[in-house]
Amino acid sequence: GHEEEVGEEYLFKIVLIGDSAVGKSNLLSRFARNEFDTNSKATIGVEFQTQVVEIDGKEVKAQIWDTAGQERFRAVTSAYYRGAVGALIVYDISRRTTFDSVKRWLDELSIHCDTTMGRMLVGNKCDLENIREVSVEEGKSLAEAEGLFFMETSALDAINVQTAFEIVIREIY
Ligand code: GTP
Ligand code: MG
Repeated sequence: GHEEEVGEEYLFKIVLIGDSAVGKSNLLSRFARNEFDTNSKATIGVEFQTQVVEIDGKEVKAQIWDTAGQERFRAVTSAYYRGAVGALIVYDISRRTTFDSVKRWLDELSIHCDTTMGRMLVGNKCDLENIREVSVEEGKSLAEAEGLFFMETSALDAINVQTAFEIVIREIY
């Protein structure tokens, strides 16, 4: 019926990428279920959650895919990216190595996806201000250089998580 057609039309696949332990799974659980897990284990394979978001009074279904940052736990890469129209590239503001990896994640993304997709650079764990290794300015300027949206988030304190996902969804909507 018509409703189903509409449902199909507005199902958007969004992928989460970034090094292990940057907080991808917790960003998703905060967004989808308002939950945070202090003892979360490294993701093995692929998981996804579908979340309905209201944009301009219309219901949009976002299917958010989460995979392992660790190479050995990752599933088939091409399948993970297939059909994705949005991406959150996540690093941890308290670990510079995860920020240095962003370029690599962007390269992988560009191999599998169209660059017209909605892309957001996410500096997660902004609650860890006292052990910060990557400044807000560095995040901003990398995002600008690569043509990405940028936001710092905290899955722990529920800062900007909703907003980060919604900006990407709005961009592709
Ligand atoms: P992989 O599945 O291995 O790729 O890791 P991941 O990116 O999914 O990380 P995950 O969500 O499992 O989080 C890793 C660790 O960071 C866990 O101990 C979380 O509790 C913690 N963590 C996640 N987000 C935040 C945050 O915003 N602030 C703080 N302080 N810790 C966080
Ligand atoms: Mg995970």
